[in-house]
Amino acid sequence: MERTRFFDKMEQLSTRHLLGIKDLNPNDIELIMATAKEFKEVINRPIKKVPSLRDVTIANVFFENSTRTRLSFELAEKRLSADTINFSASGSSVKKGETLLDTVNNILAMKVDMIVMRHASPGAPHFLSNHIKANIVNAGDGTHEHPTQALLDSFSMQERIGDLAGKKIAIIGDILHSRVALSNIFALKKQGAEVMICGPSTLIPRHITATGVTVSHDVREALAWCDVANVLRIQLERQQIKYFPTLREYSLYFGINKKMLDELDKEIVLMHPGPINRGVELSSDAADSHHSIILDQVENGVAVRMAVLYLLAAQN
Ligand code: NCD
Repeated sequence: MERTRFFDKMEQLSTRHLLGIKDLNPNDIELIMATAKEFKEVINRPIKKVPSLRDVTIANVFFENSTRTRLSFELAEKRLSADTINFSASGSSVKKGETLLDTVNNILAMKVDMIVMRHASPGAPHFLSNHIKANIVNAGDGTHEHPTQALLDSFSMQERIGDLAGKKIAIIGDILHSRVALSNIFALKKQGAEVMICGPSTLIPRHITATGVTVSHDVREALAWCDVANVLRIQLERQQIKYFPTLREYSLYFGINKKMLDELDKEIVLMHPGPINRGVELSSDAADSHHSIILDQVENGVAVRMAVLYLLAAQN
């Protein structure tokens, strides 16, 4: 792919950073999807690497745990021939009291062009964007947003069901603590999809209908309604109080198994951002069934992140 390809004015993102889906306009989303489609083709070639970001250095700065997102960004950077460095808070000088801004400024002093950042505090990447020059990609800020996850989710849905305008997407699980939920709601609404969220009332944010979604507390109703079910993990590590009596009870009322999916009188697409808590929100027979596109999501994550990094680099 020619690096100059998307550099003309019409085909640039409207933003220098990817802080959240909230800031993107529908054209940005369309441009990322189209670019990711080309990169998906690239990463399925025998030689998976292109020189597009050969002169760009990217730091992956992770203050919170990650498996998929971190590996996916790192691979996306390598496929684009960027130089990468990795930072994780555990084992770093953060433990010695260094501030976020000092940590990042020290990384930038080593001539880094872009920061991919995960942090437990909502708004941490937004704060940084007011103080540093490098492009920032939010790889998850607490319970707030996880924009690349929502973009790869949209890309994976489009592959299965085409244009998302008018399609019905249910997001099922711990909506209250999920950054994946909020970013997906923004992304799907901007593409004209209908969105229903489903979970116990204690795990549904109080003013969520202001985003234009409908709410259900009945998982069977949500499954019967939707074209795609995006199922989320119960984020126990973010729950300081009890939101439901036991995991067993949650699983009995909101868990999804293959029988429930097979009994629907339509095709349904099952998604999950990972990590799955098997036997809680999804049974193994559902997660591994033909309904599931969970591993496609992981594959598409690399192409979508390549697209985001490539398009942001074009802004410099
Ligand atoms: C999600 C996250 O970290 O927000 N996982 C991911 O990035 N693939 C969802 C989760 O942790 O449940």
